[in-house]
Amino acid sequence: MITDTTTDEIYEKLSTLLSDTVPDFELRLKAELAAEINRLKVVKNAVILGHNYMEPALFHSIPDFVGDSLELSRRAAETDKDIIVFCGVKFMAETAKILNPAKKVLIPSERAGCSLAASITAEDVRQLKQQFPGVPVVTYINTYADVKAESDICCTSSNAVAVVKSLKSDRVIFIPDEYLAGNVARETGKQIIFPTRDPLKRFPNELEYQMIGWPGRCEVHEKFSVEDIRNVRKQFPDVVILAHPECSPEVVEASDFSGSTTAMIRYVEKTRAPRYLLLTECSMGDNIAAANPEKEMLRLCSVRCPHMNEITLEDTLESLQKEQFEIHIDEEIRVKALRSVERMLEIGRED
Ligand code: 13P
Ligand code: SF4
Repeated sequence: MITDTTTDEIYEKLSTLLSDTVPDFELRLKAELAAEINRLKVVKNAVILGHNYMEPALFHSIPDFVGDSLELSRRAAETDKDIIVFCGVKFMAETAKILNPAKKVLIPSERAGCSLAASITAEDVRQLKQQFPGVPVVTYINTYADVKAESDICCTSSNAVAVVKSLKSDRVIFIPDEYLAGNVARETGKQIIFPTRDPLKRFPNELEYQMIGWPGRCEVHEKFSVEDIRNVRKQFPDVVILAHPECSPEVVEASDFSGSTTAMIRYVEKTRAPRYLLLTECSMGDNIAAANPEKEMLRLCSVRCPHMNEITLEDTLESLQKEQFEIHIDEEIRVKALRSVERMLEIGRED
């Protein structure tokens, strides 16, 4: 845990980890910003949570805790600090507020959205429930609070299969990620349909399907193709390929491992292959490469999440100074959303 560290200490750490990729003068500037953030964090009794996709200098300097969506939700629920600064995207900061409403939750940029969260509304969920009465709704954590409030249970990439199995239901509605749903359907042996793609078509009850999906996609992970994998394997036959489950089922099937961002980090740490390719947001590759210098990470590095990229050290400092941008959630929606998030937390992770 980083508390009140000086610029020199942070500069030394960043320099050891990142001097191969980041110019020295920039490391110094970033170390100064990080030191000021860490000083203010103590003064304001704040905790900083950093998602695995944060850019390397931020990731390795200011968060008290780093992790995937599930781990950071747990940290948010447990903290006794007055302020939670969420270095991640808005749905993550909202989840922190849902779980710990007495705290002031801040996000450093108001522009840090998510294409999956934007793909579905609470009204969409109400219509699905009308169309498929009595079928439980599993909602990926990458959604806004009003969508979670309409759901029975949430899931993250690290427990989606366990959550679906826990329901012991013949059918489930799984929203909004088409690809995550496809991957869960494949792993649980379920047939999936996408009724909103073909709104005029009727799906009679006797038809063989056990999952009802929604056509949302992550604008980052949808970019990877089986063709990319084939080409990389041709060039580097010994490469180990890891894919986030927001990639298409075909890409996941052609990869060597699939799991949440933290599961991928752990996989690289514990295996001995000389080279890895991560089919996910590219800053995470930089973060792993910095922490595991003996392992080579291949990059497809035009693939940066534009929303995660909004979160900078500069904005985080301003966020703490001005206590902006605060997350607010209507209390009725929060209480309903809390039920689905808490049900998920009882299940934990599967990887
Ligand atoms: P994780 O829960 O695996 O960290 O994923 C969050 C995310 O937004 C991936 O794109
Ligand atoms: Fe959303 Fe994709 Fe960015 Fe994750 S990587 S925050 S799913 S847009």
